[in-house]
Amino acid sequence: MAPDLMLELARKAAELAVGRIKGLPDEGAWDGEFRQILAEQLMENPPEDGQPAAAVMERAAREILPLALRLDHPRSFGFIPSSATWPGVLADFMAAAYNINQCTWLVASGPSQLELVVIEWLRRWMGYPESAGGLLTSGGSAASLDALVAAREAAGNPDRATVYMSDQSHSALRRAAMIIGVRPECVRAVPSDSHSRLDMNALMDLVADDRATGFNPIAIAANAGASSTGAIDPLEAMADYCEAESIWMHVDAAYGGFAIVTARGKALLRGIERADSIGLDAHKWFFQPYEAGALMVKDGRTLENAFAVHHDILQDTVWGANHPNFSDRGLQLSRSARALKIWMSVQTFGMAAFRKAVSNGMELADRAGEYVERSAVLELVHPVSLGVVCFRVNPANTDLDENSLGEINKKVLVRSFWEDRAFMSSTMVQSVFSLRLCILNHTSTWDDVRQTLEVTEAFGQEALADP
Ligand SMILES: Cc1ncc(COP(=O)(O)O)c(C=O)c1O
Repeated sequence: MAPDLMLELARKAAELAVGRIKGLPDEGAWDGEFRQILAEQLMENPPEDGQPAAAVMERAAREILPLALRLDHPRSFGFIPSSATWPGVLADFMAAAYNINQCTWLVASGPSQLELVVIEWLRRWMGYPESAGGLLTSGGSAASLDALVAAREAAGNPDRATVYMSDQSHSALRRAAMIIGVRPECVRAVPSDSHSRLDMNALMDLVADDRATGFNPIAIAANAGASSTGAIDPLEAMADYCEAESIWMHVDAAYGGFAIVTARGKALLRGIERADSIGLDAHKWFFQPYEAGALMVKDGRTLENAFAVHHDILQDTVWGANHPNFSDRGLQLSRSARALKIWMSVQTFGMAAFRKAVSNGMELADRAGEYVERSAVLELVHPVSLGVVCFRVNPANTDLDENSLGEINKKVLVRSFWEDRAFMSSTMVQSVFSLRLCILNHTSTWDDVRQTLEVTEAFGQEALADP
């Protein structure tokens, strides 16, 4: 393409993207369409002849990209939302345009050094020793997988391996255990307590029983922000136990971990620094575009011990001591330059802005919790934690059974899905159907949260009047 046209198209792409972001508050947080309709629109043979790039771009912006959950909408409170910083978006554009393959030092020394810088930032935030290391991954699932491979190798790859995690742990961890060859029945779901934290006594009983019957525990995973409720497992007690039992401790801090950049989060996550590994997602509470995960390990060598494999075609890339090839630390050889987005965003805004943005989520969630407690219609079903509010419609003066309450709340959720601009999701809290707000976006304000709760109250009252 001619450079002038390239610039014109880049400008067009930027205009479309910025226009979308500017327009978000006036739109709903969700849009989607059924497959048949989309297939009719999009399923076609690849064209033999090309078309003007601007028209192709416009079609993408009209027919494809809007049909998605707008996770960066100020009222996007479902699942784990995410609002990327613009420098982060541009970093992805630049990394792609510079065609960086962040695989080895030889192939990408600048980006490799930058990944070392970002890993060093993560190390300091987590309170890890200087011996720690890590790598950036596609996300929390890949971080979980890499962590369990490292744990398995550190344990000597025993037969009849078992892995432990709370019944609140993310499915990504279960899947990671299965991928590394731990049979599904050997992934132990440890019961959690009334605050959704892993029950230490149950964990100790399970491990003792397993050891007595010839199983080999290779890893115990803790939640630092369970995705349903934001619960934080007893990290210190788990670290004591893992140390005493010589079992690898992994902390899944995919969404909650970045709370650590605030004083409050640091206190809440105390003990995380004792884990053998920590999984993090900068595409959640650190405001980066997808994909930006990370795995940190307390002993940096454990990753290369588990992953480094020689191949003749790569023999020229062995630069030597202290020049890591990031492809030796995880499952990917070709890798995008993920550090750039984190670095460019932090350089642009500074850590004070990041701390403020992370605190904003926790403060809004606290206020939402207080609102729910004062509400005549709503009830908190779990203590607010790390930006997550689990609540439901359940007026104090009604005497509805659990089944009816579940039906009413499902009705409210469905109605909010179709009729409200906000997007929230649901979860089960100790078998109770719960509405759930996850308030992480730096663009969300108290008005966004309050109006979502007000709409929920109104829908709740109407559903109660006409069950
Ligand atoms: C606690 C937790 N762990 C792991 C994951 C999986 O991470 P990813 O979607 O980045 O693979 C998530 C995703 O929401 C999560 O919330």
